Amino acid sequence: MGDYTRPVTEIIRQRFSYREYLETPIDGTQQQQLREFMDRNPRGPWEAPQRFELVAALEHDRASLKRLGTYGFIKNPMGFIVGGVHPGEKYLEDFGYVMERFILYATGIGLGTCWLGARLRKAVLRAGCR
Ligand SMILES: Cc1cc2nc3c(=O)[nH]c(=O)nc-3n(C[C@H](O)[C@H](O)[C@H](O)COP(=O)(O)O)c2cc1C
Repeated sequence: MGDYTRPVTEIIRQRFSYREYLETPIDGTQQQQLREFMDRNPRGPWEAPQRFELVAALEHDRASLKRLGTYGFIKNPMGFIVGGVHPGEKYLEDFGYVMERFILYATGIGLGTCWLGARLRKAVLRAGCR
């Protein structure tokens, strides 16, 4: 359950929902660290099949993610962790558990985050759960 860069209680106290971000793409090393953490921790305690992707802006397309938000104000989003979960017992709890772990890991490596609830088209979600 460990695998964070610092004690998780410290990271939890530090976590805060950021609504405005620097216009700088997420550093490549941080992206890699986060993706590797996500790959290592794809399941929650209820084992619901789910998958996640980090969608990060590049230097030349920093504006590309601007319209991907949902209700509420988010300025200059530089990346999203998007995910899908297969319906089943406690699947939303499981999804929340896994995503919160990613948020805490991201916090621990110096990234700001904000939970956003938005639905993607079913066709996208049907593309598969690993
Ligand atoms: C599952 C979940 C979904 C959320 N969806 C949105 C959203 O779509 N839009 C939004 O503005 N805030 C959303 N929020 C609220 C913010 O992420 C955040 O929790 C809130 O601003 C309070 O800040 P704090 O988490 O630092 O206490 C959501 C929170 C959670 C837990």
